[in-house]
Amino acid sequence: MSRFAYVNGRFVRHGQAAVHIEDRGYQLADGVYEVWAVFDGKLADAAGHFTRLWRSLDELQIAHPMSQAALTVVLREAVRRNKVRDGLVYLQVTRGVAPRDHAFPNPAVPPAVVVTAKSVDRAAAEAKAARGLSVVTVPENRWGRCDIKSIGLLPNALAKQAARQRGAVEAWFVDELGLVTEGASSNAWIVDSEGRLRTRDTQANILRGITRTSLMEVIAGEGLPITEQPFTVEEAKAAREAFITGAGTLVLPIVSIDGVAVGDGKPGPVATRLRALYIQRAKEAAI
Ligand code: PDD
Repeated sequence: MSRFAYVNGRFVRHGQAAVHIEDRGYQLADGVYEVWAVFDGKLADAAGHFTRLWRSLDELQIAHPMSQAALTVVLREAVRRNKVRDGLVYLQVTRGVAPRDHAFPNPAVPPAVVVTAKSVDRAAAEAKAARGLSVVTVPENRWGRCDIKSIGLLPNALAKQAARQRGAVEAWFVDELGLVTEGASSNAWIVDSEGRLRTRDTQANILRGITRTSLMEVIAGEGLPITEQPFTVEEAKAAREAFITGAGTLVLPIVSIDGVAVGDGKPGPVATRLRALYIQRAKEAAI
């Protein structure tokens, strides 16, 4: 099937889609990104992802390339042209194209915008979720502004590759105190030994996950105990359940950490139920 990408104002064939060699994203990772899950052709958690996008751009002093309404049209068109029913839509905004210099171009240049969309086999994803997946832990070695959804993802890419090589699906970063920060592309959660849902607070140097925030509303609706408190790797290994959240993985049960089984080594009831509830809610609210 032909795929299409949006590049700086027009849709082009995916295979021919290209940015300039002096795009500051390519040269300096000087840009930000967002990823929306797509259910039935509609954008999940749309408002949350837009709010974080504007914040990430403002933090880096990159101009908003277009209004939210206009960007929504582009994202939906990418979904439509790529015939995505269930999948992901990816947006990247960089500071733009300028002769290479570390300092920002002066005067400013227009930000560069790329959008792609791809299908996800939801049946296969559900089968994987039902089996549960593994994580490994790696030392936290990212910069101090992980709250910005920056495209500077080299430590994340190296961590994810380390996970793959050790037979796991995700890597959890661990800070100098032995506390889990978050995953290479997801937030980390446990159901601790006292039965409380636990995830690290966002005052720390982590990304404020939109799926994480939406899931908190689901958890509140269910009246489940929750605390925003970091946990150690040992606590996670001794937890009743573990799981990750993100637009790519939704809510995914984790059954092994560094080769140690979590609980009985099978997806736990809380994570399994939260996955179903999150998906139901995301589908209903998708636009
Ligand atoms: N990643 N933490 C990190 C480091 C992430 O990269 C992501 C998402 C999350 C979860 O955020 P959200 O719930 O808003 O998707 C947490 C996206 C999916 C990616 O890099 O593809």
